[in-house]
Amino acid sequence: MKIAVIGATGGTGKKVVERALELGHEVVAVARRPEAVASANQLTIRKGDVYDAASMVLAISGADVVISCIGPPSNISEDPAKKGNLLVNLRAGMKVMAANFSPGTIMSEGMPNVVAACGRAGVKRLIMQSGINLTDGKELTLGNRLAVGTMRRIFWRAIKDKAMAEHAVMSSGLEWVIVRASVLQFADGTLNYTAGPAARIAPLQALPFADCADSLVRAAASEPAWTRKIINVGR
Ligand SMILES: NC(=O)c1ccc[n+]([C@@H]2O[C@H](COP(=O)([O-])OP(=O)(O)OC[C@H]3O[C@@H](n4cnc5c(N)ncnc54)[C@H](OP(=O)(O)O)[C@@H]3O)[C@@H](O)[C@H]2O)c1
Repeated sequence: MKIAVIGATGGTGKKVVERALELGHEVVAVARRPEAVASANQLTIRKGDVYDAASMVLAISGADVVISCIGPPSNISEDPAKKGNLLVNLRAGMKVMAANFSPGTIMSEGMPNVVAACGRAGVKRLIMQSGINLTDGKELTLGNRLAVGTMRRIFWRAIKDKAMAEHAVMSSGLEWVIVRASVLQFADGTLNYTAGPAARIAPLQALPFADCADSLVRAAASEPAWTRKIINVGR
């Protein structure tokens, strides 16, 4: 399968590219800074900015499915020597929090452009990475529902921006899957995680980026029953 990954330089996006290649897919990494993507066999690297609708059409043309891992830039970067290091994850967590306080409009403006680009490029399937904070929490334990409710109040700007993006995806005619992830961290992937519609995950228990990436590749390529569903992923 030919999979285009938007946001291929991010914490999750990088791992999605790696996982899709590992599973034998052909991958197109789409990035604002293509020079930041390491080359590999079966990997094509294309420049694209989600604010520039025309660049999106060119970037995803020829793909069978698109996975979006875009988000308000948090500029987190993984130092392989410190993988799993508490300080690395703490710093990354602070940057993600800062990005959520001032999310801008990347999701609400960017995702409609991605949806339109799929239409124009003839791509029928679109996977969007979102966050567990978008849930009303009904499927979670009482404690986790309260935690999500608190986070929704604190990060209301990011929730509003992402809700508009989710709406654009859900109201498209595409075969979409929205994957709402718990808090993520740099750590080795385990493939031991929970994912599914209304899955009862723990929003604040950190999941490796690599495991979230695996669920996104599954949504793209091997979970037809997830089509037009919201999937929670976490521990
Ligand atoms: N990290 C978490 O704990 C967590 C938990 C749940 C959900 N999420 C959500 O999942 C998504 C991905 O999270 P992440 O932590 O992997 O994000 P990230 O590391 O901050 O990566 C964001 C990606 O979006 C790209 N991007 C930003 N603006 C763009 C634009 N205008 N055009 C094209 N690409 C653009 C960035 O590219 P540049 O490298 O060029 O900036 C980067 O590749 C986000 O929506 C985030 O809110 C994150």
